[in-house]
Amino acid sequence: MPDVKDVGALMSVTYDVAARDFVRAGEAASKLKRLLQQLGLDPAVIRRAAIAAYEAEMNIVIHSYGGQIKVDITPESIEMICEDSGPGIPDIEKALQEGYSTATEEIREMGFGAGMGLPNIQRSADQFRIESTVGEGTCLQVTILHEAGE
Ligand SMILES: Nc1ncnc2c1ncn2[C@@H]1O[C@H](COP(=O)(O)OP(=O)(O)OP(=O)(O)O)[C@@H](O)[C@H]1O
Ligand SMILES: [Mg+2]
Repeated sequence: MPDVKDVGALMSVTYDVAARDFVRAGEAASKLKRLLQQLGLDPAVIRRAAIAAYEAEMNIVIHSYGGQIKVDITPESIEMICEDSGPGIPDIEKALQEGYSTATEEIREMGFGAGMGLPNIQRSADQFRIESTVGEGTCLQVTILHEAGE
């Protein structure tokens, strides 16, 4: 169960994401999508948040040792902090390029590893930040504004 706190107009939810758990992979993003639908947010905003959360979640499952997606929902925005412990990303610029992937053959056979996750997150976000330390882990900050013109 996600840890949901409702503090007036601000809601904060944290989803744990386990490494290599392909049975539960995608659950955090689905749960977030359902929550945003229950809050009655704009479908275009929900769609962008769900895409970003799904790609970030899959990257934690596939590339890290496990992590969390923390979501703050305010009247202005949906902000996600996706943090993991893991090998980190040695060359972030390269990782952000479309088609760049270090996914193994086994992962590609499962349908992942097109190298499109990070570019899709960036496209979906109004604000995007990525920090990574090799040997420690990676942290993405993704903000989606409710007012974004779609
Ligand atoms: N959380 C992470 N920890 C470590 N490395 C990562 C992480 N996220 C991304 N990477 C690195 O950046 C590369 C590009 O990530 P991206 O999500 O764009 O593509 P992918 O995960 O390889 O494939 P796709 O997302 O299309 O299934 C990955 O192949 C991996 O090398
Ligand atoms: Mg990916």
